[in-house]
Amino acid sequence: MPHSEAAASKKKLLIVDDEKYITQLLTELLESEYSVETANDGIQAFNKLKNDSFDLMLTDISMPNLDGIELLRLARAQLPDMNVVMMSGLATTENVIDALNLGACHFIRKPFKIDDVNNIIKQKMSFGPNSETASEIDVIMTDINYLILSNNYGRMTDIKKILPACSQAYYDVLKDARVSKNLLRIKQFDDAIYRHSLDVGIIASIICAFRHVKTALLNAITLGGFLHDIGKINVDYNILNKSEKLTTEEFEQIKLHTFFGHNILLEEGFNDDIAGVAFKHHEKLDGSGYPRGYTEYGIDTASQFIAVCDIYSALTEKRPYRKKLTPQEALELMHKDFVSKINFDVVKLLKLFIEG
Ligand SMILES: [Fe+2]
Ligand SMILES: [Fe+2]
Repeated sequence: MPHSEAAASKKKLLIVDDEKYITQLLTELLESEYSVETANDGIQAFNKLKNDSFDLMLTDISMPNLDGIELLRLARAQLPDMNVVMMSGLATTENVIDALNLGACHFIRKPFKIDDVNNIIKQKMSFGPNSETASEIDVIMTDINYLILSNNYGRMTDIKKILPACSQAYYDVLKDARVSKNLLRIKQFDDAIYRHSLDVGIIASIICAFRHVKTALLNAITLGGFLHDIGKINVDYNILNKSEKLTTEEFEQIKLHTFFGHNILLEEGFNDDIAGVAFKHHEKLDGSGYPRGYTEYGIDTASQFIAVCDIYSALTEKRPYRKKLTPQEALELMHKDFVSKINFDVVKLLKLFIEG
């Protein structure tokens, strides 16, 4: 391919940072794969956006003249489909949330590792800007990032160290269109169940990444967490959201979400290990769970694992019938009320991570 043709076929990247050594470093890193342009403040960058289109903009937040958040706001009006990755060394939770709300698809903290930047750009560039799967993934990744930043995973020390492994797992899992499609079905049905589903997947992935489990297992457990409650989309919405005590019949209906979830996931072509998590995540080791009342030997490890994350997530979320518990209160209650019912090796991992 002639040189000019090769350059024309490359995806276009705009790097914006007032620290010139950063734009230079990133240009050197990325110019063999992408057509790279740089700007050293927000106004310069916005002028480039007015005259040209880019597949991705990687921008710093704190800059003179026009900062990264304002640049993102203006860029959204100009190029609504462009992927925007933010980076900053001094980001407050508020401006990270602002950036995500404005549609930034990822956030990189400085100082960054070159490999991490490379991977993130590659992930974002591997989808066309108008690709449906890409936008579905972006919606869910934005929600995951929002949960991680605004929820209290900060309770979990060392989260920054393992976040790259977890983010990679989320991308790997969400790239399967069946996963993103079904998560969005849950979101459409009930936002609280959707947030809980993401929460369970996030908690499960954090514990797995913390223990350095193999990527395949990390991805499978994360996926199981994300879709464990998919069956709830077939249960009466009013029963699921009832704030008064449920009648026996209503509770029987809720229990059916395990059957529904198992069927949905098998129909979608997931294997029985994944569908099994939807079926068995309410089973208890002493046989007191549902839908089958299996004991320890009938409940696979992934389901036991997700069961612990599910209970912890439910206890630390606000529910119509009770206030949300702190992580410590949740752990105490698990030790008090779930003895011989759940896998305490998993609870120990959770505790270790929460307490550092
Ligand atoms: Fe459930
Ligand atoms: Fe659940």
